[in-house]
Amino acid sequence: MQPLLREAPERPISHGYGVVFPPMETLAKLSLPDRRLAFLLAAEVRRENPDIDLPDIPDPDSTDLPVGPAREADIDLGKTEFGEDIGLDLARLLDGRVLVQGASGAGKSWTLRRLIEQTFGRVQQIIVDPEGEFKSISDRYGHFHVEAHKLDTAALGVLGARVRAHRISVLLDMSELDREGQLQAIAAFFEALVNAPRAHWHACLVFVDEAHLFAPFGGQSSATTSVRRSAIGAVVDLMSRGRKRGLAGVLATQRLARLAKSVASEMHNFLVGMNTLDLDIRRAAETIGWDASKAFDRLPILEPGDFVAVGPAFSRSPAVLRVGGVVTHHKGARPDIVPPDEVDTSTAAQLLDLDSLIDATAADDALRDENALVPGLRTVRAFIRDPSFPVAGRIFAELRALHPDGARIADLPAGLAVTPEDANAAVALLDQYGALEFSGEGADRAVRIEKGMRQ
Ligand SMILES: Nc1ncnc2c1ncn2[C@@H]1O[C@H](COP(=O)(O)OP(=O)(O)OP(=O)(O)O)[C@@H](O)[C@H]1O
Ligand SMILES: [Mg+2]
Repeated sequence: MQPLLREAPERPISHGYGVVFPPMETLAKLSLPDRRLAFLLAAEVRRENPDIDLPDIPDPDSTDLPVGPAREADIDLGKTEFGEDIGLDLARLLDGRVLVQGASGAGKSWTLRRLIEQTFGRVQQIIVDPEGEFKSISDRYGHFHVEAHKLDTAALGVLGARVRAHRISVLLDMSELDREGQLQAIAAFFEALVNAPRAHWHACLVFVDEAHLFAPFGGQSSATTSVRRSAIGAVVDLMSRGRKRGLAGVLATQRLARLAKSVASEMHNFLVGMNTLDLDIRRAAETIGWDASKAFDRLPILEPGDFVAVGPAFSRSPAVLRVGGVVTHHKGARPDIVPPDEVDTSTAAQLLDLDSLIDATAADDALRDENALVPGLRTVRAFIRDPSFPVAGRIFAELRALHPDGARIADLPAGLAVTPEDANAAVALLDQYGALEFSGEGADRAVRIEKGMRQ
């Protein structure tokens, strides 16, 4: 190891200069890189001054830096790899939020479920459920189950405000919405949560599973740019402005690289689980302060439910832990492996009813051809098919002859020998396509061909 104090070897730090080493409680609060520097410095001081009376300083080159003494915890999370209890401090959690990250199957949804169960009844909870996985939570604990697809964005905004006002715990089930609909819904709902009046700024945990769906990094979403932007903006707002308003996000995502940077940067506490991709392991290593080799050794072999906890809200940090059990049924498990039913060909044909599907497909052909038309062509067809089209054509021809003058609408039926109703319907059709200009009122109301149509 290189001495840190090479700059001034002739003036070794001695006890006489008043070396003060912070107590372990203080060290435990430092970030990992700062803590390691402090240990390096202490080792340096000890080497230069063997007689100095320093607390028992661990070897700074060990990758397993010891954790500080346990802090208070009021949420029971699970057990560390050494069998100690590990928990979260609710107040610190509200201040610093939590991000749960890990590959598919790492145990993120389970962990959210555990946190929901452990904090239930102590603070308002809002659960954003993109896959419809958390219904058993509302069945057991009585969270109000909201099917987001039944509400438009305006209604979701009102709902958000009411949820804040009345401190009602809700489960927002988004499983029936398409991706774009989910983004629109989250933008409206979160915006209302954050913008609730000061009188409604109560503490509230907002659990968001698959958070990258709502705040995708860069272009990683098929949604239109404006929809994506407003959803990301709403999630960032929840994470940043939300804190003073009592809103604390507990987010889960598969990949840090898929989550908008501005969201990840608002998080102070991390639970990092199994990761298998190189890029993810490197990002995770940076997040939890592990060196890359340790991360490559350990992160891919973590079991489902094993996480590395880092952050001020954990009672021990950093620590490797197994998240404890859950009371409600967890749907995330893959279905059991069962052999397929034995079905003979004729029963299969009956069950699949392929013939009627082929017929339906043929019947749909006409419709599909229609839909495949370019929008302009579809418009022209709609125009031509309108019953008023023939009269409209004649009116257009007459008016073109009169151009740049026009005609009184009241005179059209007589001039064309059609009923006033037919003439009016034809004028309305032409107007619908922006072909006419109007002037005057009542019986003198006149019409001529719109400027851009005169050539
Ligand atoms: N703490 C745990 N204790 C015991 N089993 C667990 C634990 N966490 C996860 N598991 C097991 O792992 C499975 C997958 O967990 P989970 O559904 O939470 O994964 P996930 O990270 O949310 O995956 P995905 O990203 O695909 O949604 C669970 O169904 C469960 O069987
Ligand atoms: Mg999950």
